[in-house]
Amino acid sequence: MSTSTSVFRLARRLERVGFSDIVKIRNRVMELRAGGASVYQFEGGEPFLTTPEPIKEAMAEALGENRTRYAPSSGIPELRAAIAGKVRERNRIKAREEDVVVLNGGMQGLFGAFQSVVNPEDEVLVFSPYWTPIKDLIAHCEGRTVLVPTDEARRDGFAETLARYATNKARLIYYNTPQNPSGVVFTREEAEEVARFAQERDLVVIADEAYEDLVYGGEHVSIASLEGMLERTITCYTLSKSYAMTGWRVGYAVATEPWMAGLKKCLLYSTNGVSTPSQWAALAAFGLPADFYETIRAAYRERRDLLLSGLNELGFNCDAPAGAFYAFPDASRIAADSRDAAEILLERAQVATVPGVVFGEHGEGHLRFSFSTSPEVIRAGLDSMRRNLSRDELRDEG
Ligand SMILES: Cc1ncc(COP(=O)(O)O)c(C=O)c1O
Repeated sequence: MSTSTSVFRLARRLERVGFSDIVKIRNRVMELRAGGASVYQFEGGEPFLTTPEPIKEAMAEALGENRTRYAPSSGIPELRAAIAGKVRERNRIKAREEDVVVLNGGMQGLFGAFQSVVNPEDEVLVFSPYWTPIKDLIAHCEGRTVLVPTDEARRDGFAETLARYATNKARLIYYNTPQNPSGVVFTREEAEEVARFAQERDLVVIADEAYEDLVYGGEHVSIASLEGMLERTITCYTLSKSYAMTGWRVGYAVATEPWMAGLKKCLLYSTNGVSTPSQWAALAAFGLPADFYETIRAAYRERRDLLLSGLNELGFNCDAPAGAFYAFPDASRIAADSRDAAEILLERAQVATVPGVVFGEHGEGHLRFSFSTSPEVIRAGLDSMRRNLSRDELRDEG
């Protein structure tokens, strides 16, 4: 029997899809720790909190009552109703229950959203720096990522900047607020400008609101709540960050037709729904009292302020992030290449961060520090940097 090497070739649509760089950093941290080093970890992307007790109790109850069978693929009706209520009340999006689908985390929503909109060669406008997997999700659709620098848009105006980068092949805008990695929170006026541009150019918007509950200054505005935007927006949410449920893999998306049909097809033929007991647990999340959100925000704010004052004292000149749990300082004094800067910090000060270039060319020169850790780790990491980096690397003597 003859075999040809051409058989052993990945399908074309996966050729341009990459693996996460962040995993490589995590592996290096694990290697150092296995060798006995203590590493101050700022590279992560998860809440430092544990999942709230009422959610875990609801899971145990669902298991005890054998609520473990197939559920409707789009989600149990009770959860979809609770989500529709939350989205109407807190996000001001006029969604009906049928505009909601329960998904396996934010990632499955984003996967389904891009698959539902992007045809080969379509252009997707992405504010940059951006969350890395987005370029892979676009590559999987054989679409083209067009980076729109967030700084430039904030300086020159969103309409003007988007117009500068968009061609007649533009089909979609990826709109993430609060942003990973920069912590930028787009204002209402900025959301309105983006919405106007989308309507004028007849573009679809994929809104990623994974960090909606972690806003320290200003308000979180869901772009789908603006006039005329519900029908052209797919909004992706996750329980991962708000409820410290990264490992549970529960999220949801809000969209009208034809996008909802696309999301449902992707869901049906990938996982055929979300684990039934996890959905009953997720329902408990929407019953948490309002002060839950205030408490977690206060805890993150305390950590943000601690990290920020330390970084600025060391000479990093870092703006306070308005949302999410990342600081994104310029670290080019340590090394112009952010991979080298991250390596120097890790090897010399045992401080693990993510090189900014991982988030695209506009992230180069920066490092991403997560402040989702304990105040003790933040203090110890800052102290280690103070002791182990040279004055030249830290302070702007000019
Ligand atoms: C901007 C952004 N969107 C979406 C997600 C997806 O979250 P998950 O798939 O864990 O629910 C993340 C996770 O880090 C994120 O940072």
